[in-house]
Amino acid sequence: MSASSTRKTKAGQQAASHPHDRVIIFDTTLRDGEQSPGASMNLDEKIKIALLLEEMGVDVIEAGFPIASNGDFEAVREIAKLVKAASVCGLARAGRADIERCWEAVQGAVRPRIHTFISTSPLHMKFKLQMEPDAVHQAVIDSVSLARNLCPDVEWSCEDGSRTEHDFLCRTVESAIKAGARTINIPDTVGYAVPEEFAALIRMLFDRVPNIDKAVVSVHCHNDLGLAVANSLAAVGAGARQIECTVNGLGERAGNAAMEEIVMALKTRHDRMPFATGVNSAYITRASRLVSAITGFVVQPNKAIVGANAFAHESGIHQDGMLKHSGTYEIMTPESVGLNKSTLVMGKHSGRHAFKMKLKELGFDLGDNALNDAFRRFKDLADRKKEVFDEDIVALVDDEIQHGTERIRFVSLGVVAGSQGPQTAELELMVDGVPQKIKTAGNGPVDATFNAIRELVPHTARLLLYQVHAVTAGTDAQAEVTVRLEEGGKSVVGQGADVDTLVASARAYIHALNKLLTKRAKTAPAAMSA
Ligand code: KIV
Ligand code: ZN
Repeated sequence: MSASSTRKTKAGQQAASHPHDRVIIFDTTLRDGEQSPGASMNLDEKIKIALLLEEMGVDVIEAGFPIASNGDFEAVREIAKLVKAASVCGLARAGRADIERCWEAVQGAVRPRIHTFISTSPLHMKFKLQMEPDAVHQAVIDSVSLARNLCPDVEWSCEDGSRTEHDFLCRTVESAIKAGARTINIPDTVGYAVPEEFAALIRMLFDRVPNIDKAVVSVHCHNDLGLAVANSLAAVGAGARQIECTVNGLGERAGNAAMEEIVMALKTRHDRMPFATGVNSAYITRASRLVSAITGFVVQPNKAIVGANAFAHESGIHQDGMLKHSGTYEIMTPESVGLNKSTLVMGKHSGRHAFKMKLKELGFDLGDNALNDAFRRFKDLADRKKEVFDEDIVALVDDEIQHGTERIRFVSLGVVAGSQGPQTAELELMVDGVPQKIKTAGNGPVDATFNAIRELVPHTARLLLYQVHAVTAGTDAQAEVTVRLEEGGKSVVGQGADVDTLVASARAYIHALNKLLTKRAKTAPAAMSA
């Protein structure tokens, strides 16, 4: 893509508040991302992600689909109240109930946005909507007009836009803008487009829709053919100025365009794509880790920008080149995505004040009680681990925050492991403030530990995922364990961290179980009507 292929005339007038070379980053991790099977998040987790997205400079946060469930509604409403700098957007189908519910959820935001959509492709209209094109066209006008009467900022999407007939696409886009849509989003819903074709589609809209200069053209690309980022960037070259994307490329099926790849491609190849985003790329690693930890979706090691190997150099030739000049094999610095070299923080002699300062530097601001608990655990860790790194502190504090207010709390674990079975676990928990203890056997120490939890807190949830990863290098590294449980179609993810893998495993299982209890309580009829 070259600078000369950008459509300076009309696109330049699109975003009143943004200069022509500015690409608006619309993050839909909390909506399309959450629609990935198994990626559901609770309210606290969504708030955590939203606040980080705001801090990193995302322009629009799509916080959920308010009519989908009470949980979604509540999450959008809370995020709308808390986020100040970014627009907070909710998704709504074309009907009145969806749009009004969406407005109810976002209206408390400083910058609320309603995002309404309807399918426009022949296939979707005939089989999914079972509506004639004229009726769909009327629904576009009615839905956008209704949304605009409620909210000054309305985005309209033509679902399956990339497979929509051009005449009909132009007609609906023109009408949506006339009805008041400020942003027109063209989704490649099924990830079918290829870059040249998708760019031509965007150019076609600029050429044929007479009022296109009154709206920002946005794109929303899925990754079924692995082309979501390439299609999004091609669209920007053709005049689009908003990209919808998600952290780690989370999303329906193969996911959406990955935000970190979009941001770093625009930053690194500014010579070919002279566009800027408002995202501070130094937050990328933190956001990736947070989303991965919360959803339990591991980032593949060779994933661009945020994979564990993205800045690793294994072969001798590469290492030699790197020592001579880092530019030989690195096109961007690890620091530019917030991947700082592991720094030795403190040892067992470090004091509370130094620990507090370190937490501040790492972006944590804990209250007195949480700080005291975290400091106690840090001292304990420093006693057991030779070197304590930034990553250790982050894992420890994340663990403390996640486990701080739970009904079931871990107290202690003793395990007998090894080749001379039976392997047993002696576990003590605090359940609703009451100490409980048990000793159980199992097929290996992890099984024994999980059996002990099941005995103390009987439940029928199935264990869908058990995963361990080392926070830092070395055999004394902390283990970070992820557990996914499923009960009655609802799945939850728990994490735990400790230098002892089995203690981390118990903590992760207990974390997931606590979330399940919260979920059960929220979906009980009495709680629903409260
Ligand atoms: O993929 C899609 O078409 C969507 C729309 C709702 C924007 O997610
Ligand atoms: Zn989508």
